[in-house]
Amino acid sequence: MAIREVLKMGDPRLLEPARPVADFASIELAQLVVDMHDTMRALDGAGLAAPQIGVGLQVVIFEVNANPRYPDAENVPYTVLINPRLTPLSDALEAGWEGCLSVPGMRGLVPRHTDLRYQGFDAAGQPIDRSVSGFHARVVQHEVDHLHGILYPMRILDLRDFGFTETLFPGQNLQDD
Ligand code: NI
Repeated sequence: MAIREVLKMGDPRLLEPARPVADFASIELAQLVVDMHDTMRALDGAGLAAPQIGVGLQVVIFEVNANPRYPDAENVPYTVLINPRLTPLSDALEAGWEGCLSVPGMRGLVPRHTDLRYQGFDAAGQPIDRSVSGFHARVVQHEVDHLHGILYPMRILDLRDFGFTETLFPGQNLQDD
């Protein structure tokens, strides 16, 4: 168990595509998931992708449960999602504010598919197949983007909708990312 250093935007490792997990029984995978969990919890993140701690595997985790960084968001159960595949369920897009542990202290307005099906595997290799919407769908799209080397600022349509959290949302006491 360890809290790992989160790489920040500018590190080329965040821009590389991640490899699929091939061995679900490995000790290394189990340790990776524990480290990701501990790191996300320590930083009050809504999610974390393995490349953010320098591991180029298709593993993401997410959880929203009265998260102080997203006080108005619906709850999302703690999920480990490996080798994910995303399928938008409609053409609807919705703009929403996002932050990222790799882009600390900032928020940007990002369009995401409103309705999403995601498939993959949990840490034990059991299949996951969920259809979700809203903030849950947004978190999954953000995290899976990390597996393709995409950080949310690359998806902001108008860079005027990008700035420092404490300036964009003064007095809301949103934690640093
Ligand atoms: Ni992120």
